[in-house]
Amino acid sequence: HKQLNIGLFGFGVVGEGLYKVLQQTPSLKASIVKVCIKNPGKKRDAPAALFTTEKDDLLNDTNINVIVEVIDDADAAFVIVKTALLNGKHVVSASKKMLAEHLPEILDLQKQTGLSVLYEAAACASIPVIRNLEEYYDNDLLHAIKAIVNGSTNFILTRMFEDKLSFADALILAQQLGFAESNPKLDVEGFDAVNKLSILLNHAYGIVEHPDNLLFNGIQNIQLSDALVAKEKNFEVKLVAQAKKLKNGRVATFVLPQFVKQDDPLSFVKNEYNGAVIESGFADKQFFYGKGAGSFPTASAVLSDLSALRYNYRYEYKKLYHHQPHQLSNEYFVKV
Ligand code: HSE
Repeated sequence: HKQLNIGLFGFGVVGEGLYKVLQQTPSLKASIVKVCIKNPGKKRDAPAALFTTEKDDLLNDTNINVIVEVIDDADAAFVIVKTALLNGKHVVSASKKMLAEHLPEILDLQKQTGLSVLYEAAACASIPVIRNLEEYYDNDLLHAIKAIVNGSTNFILTRMFEDKLSFADALILAQQLGFAESNPKLDVEGFDAVNKLSILLNHAYGIVEHPDNLLFNGIQNIQLSDALVAKEKNFEVKLVAQAKKLKNGRVATFVLPQFVKQDDPLSFVKNEYNGAVIESGFADKQFFYGKGAGSFPTASAVLSDLSALRYNYRYEYKKLYHHQPHQLSNEYFVKV
């Protein structure tokens, strides 16, 4: 099979993770040719000759056939992805914010160029949730998705409520372990989760909705007392992203902190793990579970995308549903 010559953008938690993972998976025949980084002064555990600060060193290198883009800056990431595709290179990305904000243009570019843009790492890291959504025979069969899609906030809630850690200390720990965004407000206030929801909505229902148009809130107002009330009544507090097909054919969707019953599979999702309960025709309820943040778990999803390029995998274009704007009906509220 074909050799993958990778130009890698970003050598942070995910980029360095991928570098190490590829060293342990030689049978993939994928090698990193060059790495573009922002700060050349940082000490890195890789040969100095690999690194450049010039993005054109990667984007104009005809030997490079895949661009892997795992940088933080969504606007810069979009320019890189666009240029890579126009220069004839496949793209694997983990930039959830960039993808959520630019999905329509990226889908158009993918169609126009016939190349693949894969981004399994952008939602639920190690869980192949996008792949699975793609595999349902028809999205008419998908009734609902309820998921924990942000590892940092789930980690914070777990440490607060199980170890009595303060919110601030739990957040510092999440940052030290490499789960949090460089601006942790994106995790805590639900921005990261709604970006991931926006991506999942596309693969579940063909909905292309900018995250700004989706209803969301984070865990910034959750306190220990909320967990105590919940526990007493056999509930857990979780930040849940969900989408549900309504009788009118539209999809109601949001990210909100919720009381989750202790017998709900999502209540078993602790620390940086993510989980998704998907309800569909014939299959009924399925539960997907795995690490949702961190270096190797996220790199594992990038690895899976690289491997999928070898058999020319591309995401399908889904039947289009409409999003039901900002409406919460009583059925979403549990009585505690
Ligand atoms: N900050 C993100 C999270 C990283 O905590 O889930 C994985 O996308």
